[in-house]
Amino acid sequence: MIATRRSNRSHFANMYARKDCEMNDIIDLSKANYPDLSNRRVVIAGGTGDVGEGIVRAWLKAGAHVIVPSRSDSKVETFRDVLSDLGQLEKLDFVVGSYSGFDEAQEMAEHIGEEYGEVTDVIASIGGWWQGKSLWDISPDDWQRYFIDMTTAHAATARAWVPRLSQKGSYQLILGGSAVEPIAGASIINMQQAALLMMRHVLSLEAGEKHRIAAQILGPVITRARSRYKDDWVSNDEVGLVTLGIAADPGATDRDYTSQDKTQMRDTLQGLGVYPQ
Ligand SMILES: NC(=O)c1ccc[n+]([C@@H]2O[C@H](COP(=O)([O-])OP(=O)(O)OC[C@H]3O[C@@H](n4cnc5c(N)ncnc54)[C@H](OP(=O)(O)O)[C@@H]3O)[C@@H](O)[C@H]2O)c1
Repeated sequence: MIATRRSNRSHFANMYARKDCEMNDIIDLSKANYPDLSNRRVVIAGGTGDVGEGIVRAWLKAGAHVIVPSRSDSKVETFRDVLSDLGQLEKLDFVVGSYSGFDEAQEMAEHIGEEYGEVTDVIASIGGWWQGKSLWDISPDDWQRYFIDMTTAHAATARAWVPRLSQKGSYQLILGGSAVEPIAGASIINMQQAALLMMRHVLSLEAGEKHRIAAQILGPVITRARSRYKDDWVSNDEVGLVTLGIAADPGATDRDYTSQDKTQMRDTLQGLGVYPQ
């Protein structure tokens, strides 16, 4: 069952300390050129997640109507608290229901279309991390949860949304460097992310000129879940700004934007014209 939720307008105490990047002198987001995307409606699948938060914040800042599907009521409540510093969120809606199977994702897309109208952009930031066992020690449950379930959620989301998007909009995947670099003890994530990167490439081929498809390949990301991080890691706010840059640039398609660290992230942002040279 799918339930639509208007975002809570109250101010909540922030449950998580936001990790700002004041120490970072490579990227200063107060200098960024946020595009005006007030004529866009975006669905951010995985928006309640660690990276998703930065993407949601960026699209709200750009003036877009933001819709976040979530499988869980409690996760939505927690996420509202996380965003409480933004005050009233009239352009943010949550839709509670599963979207991680083929039929469920289709139902979710139909519901959102009927309830809110045309969606221009979709960002898939679905997933999470797993590490700790050699490939020969993984269990069927590990495989099911971190390979099958997550690749299925991504494929189902792409399948449900790509045909609905116009050339003006974009379909974007958020992926990690584990798609291209093997990490001992993280084989399932390596294989899953590599499969999803190939999904981006094949989607681009199949979409041709009809739809714009792009991905980000990221190093470790600074998020609310991290108590420790290195200053040269990219932040989820920067990842969000890249998604805006891709959405705003009609020529941004069929590409993987790699930002393993802040220096690469600055190049990515400058290349998209959302950060000064
Ligand atoms: N965190 C990092 O440092 C980092 C670095 C590089 C790349 N990335 C990439 O960024 C993407 C998002 O990562 P994240 O760290 O933000 O993940 P996360 O915090 O674990 O959140 C991912 C979201 O995905 C949704 N989801 C839908 N189907 C799922 C399923 N079957 N299993 C688990 N979650 C599911 C969940 O939303 P609901 O429960 O609300 O539905 C969840 O909030 C991934 O592709 C990851 O590889 C992350």
